[in-house]
This record gives sequence, structure tokens and C-alpha cells, in this order.
Amino acid sequence: MKTITREDFGENFLWGVATAAFQIEGAVDKDGRGASIWDHFTAQKGKIKNGDHARVACDFYHLYEQDIALAASLGFRQFRFSISWPRILPEGRGAINAAGVSFYNKVIDQCLAAGLEPWITLYHWDLPQALEMLGGWKNCEIISWFSEYVKVCANAFGDRVKHWIVLNEPMAVAGLGYTTGLHAPGRKSIRNFLPVVHHLAMCQAEGGRILRQHVPDARIGTALSCSYVYPHTASPRDVRAARRANALMNRLFIEPALGLGYPIDGFSFLANIKRYMQPGDTEKLRFDFDFIGLQNYFSVEIRHSYLAPVTWLKEVPARLRNVPVTAMGWEISPEGMYRIINQFSQYKAIPELIISESGAAFHDIPENGRIPDTERKEYFVQYLNAVLRAKNEGARVGGYFAWTLLDNFEWAEGYSARFGLVYVDFDTQQRTVKDSGKWFRSFLTR
Ligand code: NOJ
Repeated sequence: MKTITREDFGENFLWGVATAAFQIEGAVDKDGRGASIWDHFTAQKGKIKNGDHARVACDFYHLYEQDIALAASLGFRQFRFSISWPRILPEGRGAINAAGVSFYNKVIDQCLAAGLEPWITLYHWDLPQALEMLGGWKNCEIISWFSEYVKVCANAFGDRVKHWIVLNEPMAVAGLGYTTGLHAPGRKSIRNFLPVVHHLAMCQAEGGRILRQHVPDARIGTALSCSYVYPHTASPRDVRAARRANALMNRLFIEPALGLGYPIDGFSFLANIKRYMQPGDTEKLRFDFDFIGLQNYFSVEIRHSYLAPVTWLKEVPARLRNVPVTAMGWEISPEGMYRIINQFSQYKAIPELIISESGAAFHDIPENGRIPDTERKEYFVQYLNAVLRAKNEGARVGGYFAWTLLDNFEWAEGYSARFGLVYVDFDTQQRTVKDSGKWFRSFLTR
């Protein structure tokens, strides 16, 4: 493996670390915050590993000063965090909670004081429960609810925040939140999938337009999950299944934003989405994003399956393929990162790609006050090599955000999966920089 240096990526390449409100903040009942779908979901039996919840999480709500200082001390100059919608609008719309606005003002000011450029994600999965009661992402009214929320945030924070991400991984919201039910709000029906996709895609573009209007000098993006898809065999059936998976995993949210419509040519089932579209929506789905955030955690191998109605496809799990995996069971595949960057680079209308999350969970074992997470360090070295290879070959990649600063609440996995550059002892809230965090510090500041 080639030894890489920061200079290899060029002077203007952005280096950041990413976080999300519900995963770190805790303080769920503090200062007028309303309930989110994740508060409700975590309170239900059997939804989260070990019955974990996020009422305290990393207590970032109280420890943000030291945590932001820690991020800066690792050499990062960009800090990505998300706004908790129910902290700002406890009922999802209507009355603004001044204490919530004030918390994010303090976070932003602290970033700027620490030399970190704040990047706001508007929606990282914590929908106000009050809106879920009205149908949540399945109700087309969400476009106006979301617009109201975006306006409030743009007006409150746009004077200091010049980097915005409208949605985080909308495919996870539609797929895990409303179709398989593995994530909040835990709704489980294929019938939810298409309306939820359409409302997310509409909000993605509308959110961009509102930001452009209220913060004209902002750089605006959206963050998409993506996975390079390999067919299991070269048989026509497997190749067609892989094409359908690619339409779902990699094309579904970018193509409507680029004005290409939904990728019906890749998966004909998507044609049914027209039922949920109003006249003029195809145009409204478009927005000229300044950048697209890519989040790639694994590649997938896909085969045809008669056991999966609707999609007729099945993933061949990494554990059956004799490949190296992370603690999540996800294949370690820097080659997949390289390929997916190239795939997105083919869309000439995307001005810039930013790797808005990249990282891995491993079983970290503290050893005399140290966290010797060699595997994670190796992971970053391999993935950064892949990013650099794509960049040197002409891909327009402008930045890399490590996922994540702190071990945190990993959704359905609770605290069992640790992704941080910094280890968190959840009994004492003590932070210990892992060897991978120290590696970043020397890579970025040497
Ligand atoms: C992507 C999500 O945005 C983030 O919240 C999550 O923790 C990571 N994937 C790891 O699963």
C-alpha cells in the first residue's frame, strides 16, 4: 500500500469529521425539545440491540465545547453535525423553541472559534414524532412541513453556516424506516416505499431551493448512501438483478435531482411512483446542487432470487464470500469505494463529490488506557488510497469526512458498534483518542 500524505490530495481538499444529532446529543427532554420518532422507536421492546436508548448517548448537548475542541485537535478543519428538527420545532411546525436555536448557535460559534467550518445536515433521521402521527414521510404534506423547518434553520444559522446538506441517506429512511421497519418509525410495508421515496426526493430539491434563496452564498449538497454492485455471476438473471439493485442503491435520489427522472429503465417497478406525483413534480425534483455527498460503507454482490417478491433480488452476504469484514459484517472494499466514485463521476452535471462519511466499526479493546485500533487505521489508509486513486484519475472529489468523531448510538445496533476516532466510556463519558484518531492527527498536522 502506497504511503499517502495530506499533500497528495492538494491544498484545497477538505478534511472533516461527521456526526449526527440523535447519535450523540442525549438530553432528549432538555430545554423544550419535542419527541422524535427515534425516541419512540428506542422505547419499544426488541427494536434496539441490548435495549439501548439514546437518552444520554455521548451527552454532546452538555459536552459540545470539549468535543469540538477535540475534533479541532485531531487536525480537522470541517465539522459536520445535524440539527435535531424537534429541538427547533418541538411539534414539527409552528412554535419555534428558542432554546433549541440557541444550542445550535453555541455549537456553530464554538466551531468557528475552534477553527472548524460548520457543515449542517438538516435531516439525519430524527423526524418529530408529532409529524409521524400525521403520516410522517408517507404524507405529501411533509413537503410543506420540511420547507418551514428549512426556512427557520436557514434564517437562524445562515449568517455563519455556508455548507449545508439537505438530507442524509434518504434511501435508508425509505428502506429501513418505512419498508423493512428496522429503523424508526418501524413501519413495515412495501406499499410505503414509493410515496416515501417521492416525498424525500421532493424535499431534497425543495430544501435546496429554500437554502439558495435564504443563504445565497452557501454551498448546498445532499448526502447519499451508495454501494458498488457486483452481479453474483455473469448469468443474465443475476446481471438484471444487479441492475435493479443499482437503480435502488445508487440512482434513485441522484437522477431525479439531475433532471433525469427516476431510474425506471433500471427497475420497472419504479414506474409506479407516478401514482404519487403531481403535475410539475418532475421539474420540481431538480436542483442544482453544488456538491453531492457520497457515503460508501460496503459493496454488494447481488443475485436473482425467486424468494423476494417485487425486487426478485438477494444480497450474497459478505460472510459467505470469504472476504474481510468490519464488526458490522460489512465487506472491507476500498476497490468498491474507487468504483462508486467513478460511477458518480460519470454524471457530468455534478460539480463536486464530497465523501461526506467514511469509516468502520471494529471491536475496540482498551489496553492500559490506549485503544490500539490498528484495523480502523488500516481501513482509513486503504480507503483514502482509493479516493486518491479516483481523484488522480480525474474524479471531482473535493473532500473527505471521517465517520465519526465519537463512538455513539449506532441506530438499531445501539452502543454495540463503535465507529469513533475517539473511544467513549458510556458509564463515565470519558473520551480517549484511539490510535486511528492519533493517526489522523499526524496525517493532517504533520
Ligand atoms: C450512515 C449514517 O448516516 C450514520 O448515521 C451511521 O452511523 C453510519 N452510516 C454507520 O452505519
